[in-house]
Amino acid sequence: MTILQNVSLRPYNTFGMDVAATHFTVFNDLQQIQELSSMAWMYPKKYIVGGGSNILLTQPLEGLVIKNEWKGIALVDESDEHVWLQVNAGEIWHDTVLYAISKGWGGMENLSLIPGCVGAAPMQNIGAYGVEVKELIDEVVAWHWEENRFIALKNEDCQFGYRDSIFKQALKEKVLITSVVFRLSKKPKLNTTYGAIQQQLEKMGVHKPTIKTVSDAVIAIRTSKLPNPKDIGNAGSFFKNPVIHKAQFLSLQQQYPAIVGHASGDDTIKVAAGWLIEQAGWKGYKKGAAGVHDKQALVLVNHGGASGMEVYDLSSDIITSVHYQFGIMLEREVQIW
Ligand code: EPU
Repeated sequence: MTILQNVSLRPYNTFGMDVAATHFTVFNDLQQIQELSSMAWMYPKKYIVGGGSNILLTQPLEGLVIKNEWKGIALVDESDEHVWLQVNAGEIWHDTVLYAISKGWGGMENLSLIPGCVGAAPMQNIGAYGVEVKELIDEVVAWHWEENRFIALKNEDCQFGYRDSIFKQALKEKVLITSVVFRLSKKPKLNTTYGAIQQQLEKMGVHKPTIKTVSDAVIAIRTSKLPNPKDIGNAGSFFKNPVIHKAQFLSLQQQYPAIVGHASGDDTIKVAAGWLIEQAGWKGYKKGAAGVHDKQALVLVNHGGASGMEVYDLSSDIITSVHYQFGIMLEREVQIW
């Protein structure tokens, strides 16, 4: 296994930040895990990248960056209703979705076109259009650096929350996710409750949706609203949608009748951060090469040549301004390195 020195991470992050890592390696099979673990002590700080689609690099990284390219998909169990699919962490998420759809296995279709790799999916419990990946995960397998062994966490042990899991909390930087077992449905129940999906299906003239047409609808919606990192550097939603107390929401609604929010618990409302940021006047804003996307204010972009700090500073300005106007503290969803 080769460890390279002073490697630019530009190709490995969707923001396109040109930041160097002191040490860098690519991992693509099981044997390399053993090799890696035998030298792990030399690198107290390890950074795992998959698709690099949820990180903002703000400074050169001192440590070992491990690019996970371990691929492979295997059917590991089956019942009348379900299949259990073990997918190695380096598989591209969207390719996995398309593979499941081609086999007629349902569950992932609403999560079509989310950038990144399979290993990152449980990390932040990716979600879109009414589905979160926690609904599909049976088990996550990971290498534990300190214990020097594989651990398997069942769904209930992963402490999944909104864009959150044990891998961002207690196990942060302690493990390398190597594979995920998904439970998919042989008799798919479609989730088309999300208004945008219904409208898109109508537009497409689809009256009896299938997992394939729902996926096509999601792809069409995402393509129309979210910038393609190949064209404009970005990491999807930069902030989480904040969850606030119902009383605060009702009081804001008096002042801003158009505020967008959905119940997220008995007494709490999840507010559309994109709406707040747009109302605060940031949509389409540009300072140097850092900016706010003009079709979706939740997405910060690098128009080319912005530094990670410029994007970070912009995100701080947005947090301050939204807090000043609405009394709501936005939280970054993207990991800052
Ligand atoms: N909105 C605005 N202005 C904007 C953006 C959004 O007013 O600039 C309003 C929309 O009109 C809509 C509401 O906000 O009423 C919600 O917008 P949207 O449906 O686009 O979803 P979102 O809350 O902005 C979340 C996820 C996305 C996911 C979509 C669809 C988070 C942080 N983001 O965005 O996930 O694709 O729902 O389900 O939860 C990601 O995590 O990277 C991501 C793209």
